[in-house]
Amino acid sequence: MNILKTAIAAAALSALGALPTLAADYTLRLSHGDNENNPTHMGAVKFKELVEEYTDGRIEVQIFPSNQLGSEQEVAQALRMGSIEGEILYTGNLVPLAPSVGVMMLPYAFTSTEEAHAAMDALKGPLNERLPKEAGVRVLGYFEKGFRVLTNSEREVKTLDDLQGLKIRVSKNNIAIKTFQSWGLDPIPMAWAEVFPALQQGVIDGQENPYTTAISSKFFEVQKYITEIHYLIWSGPIIVSERFYQGLPEDLQEALNRAGEEAALHERQVSAEETAAAKEELVELGMVLSGAPEDEAKWQEAAKALWPSFADDIGGAEWVEQASKIMEEAIA
Ligand code: MLT
Repeated sequence: MNILKTAIAAAALSALGALPTLAADYTLRLSHGDNENNPTHMGAVKFKELVEEYTDGRIEVQIFPSNQLGSEQEVAQALRMGSIEGEILYTGNLVPLAPSVGVMMLPYAFTSTEEAHAAMDALKGPLNERLPKEAGVRVLGYFEKGFRVLTNSEREVKTLDDLQGLKIRVSKNNIAIKTFQSWGLDPIPMAWAEVFPALQQGVIDGQENPYTTAISSKFFEVQKYITEIHYLIWSGPIIVSERFYQGLPEDLQEALNRAGEEAALHERQVSAEETAAAKEELVELGMVLSGAPEDEAKWQEAAKALWPSFADDIGGAEWVEQASKIMEEAIA
């Protein structure tokens, strides 16, 4: 085949999508546990766009939603080994592997998403002094999806008494488990991917996650009541494998950090809009939104009394003191 024919054939194949575009120098496989209708995915798409722009295509980001590469905790382990490059995950699912991130999870530490944003942005640098050693990962930016709300299929929960006896799933970490225990429950720790079928089959009566998740995961099909328990904000770092990061030239490391921070700002904005829309939609879909518990002070008192006992779960007393100071200054 002469050169002209080869060029025409290549152009035709390329137009059909049969030929790969020029290969990137690096591939960053980015896993997350939510589906494509969730703000996490929308932020992931922004992150991909920014990384590819700021690196002139030298890093290609491939997004794998819905736990396709494994559960959130399995993928975090793979990042430590360097066999997967990136992940966005709920802080509560990272904390057993990287305890220091747990300082974002002290119940009732934040009264607004703005406070949480200030804290998480201020923590990025100090966390990146610790996480590479602790868990073989580092943070590029922090997503946020609003306060986690309690949903259940059985009854309106307006008081701690109403909560008693419900079978509630929590994410697999001591902070969520002990907090629900302080409210008199025996919560059920369960991987995220198992939650919808467990609700559907009645293995559990309820769970807690942001409003947007009740829409994207179609919880309205199997849940009736929502209570704004305000105890935790869904914070979620974009993390990369430290092995992958250290293998990059400095300009690409900088590009990743810039993309992570900007994608987080975008995701937080999208999330606020989606949360407002989700609340209206859930009412239209027949869910009963009860607002905050009438006796919220009791919930707070029980959970906040646990703070000192969480130190070992979240990086040790010295780190908790240092991080608390950083967060307080950032919020002030
Ligand atoms: C969980 O409850 O495990 C997480 O909040 C799910 C998620 O990452 O959206």
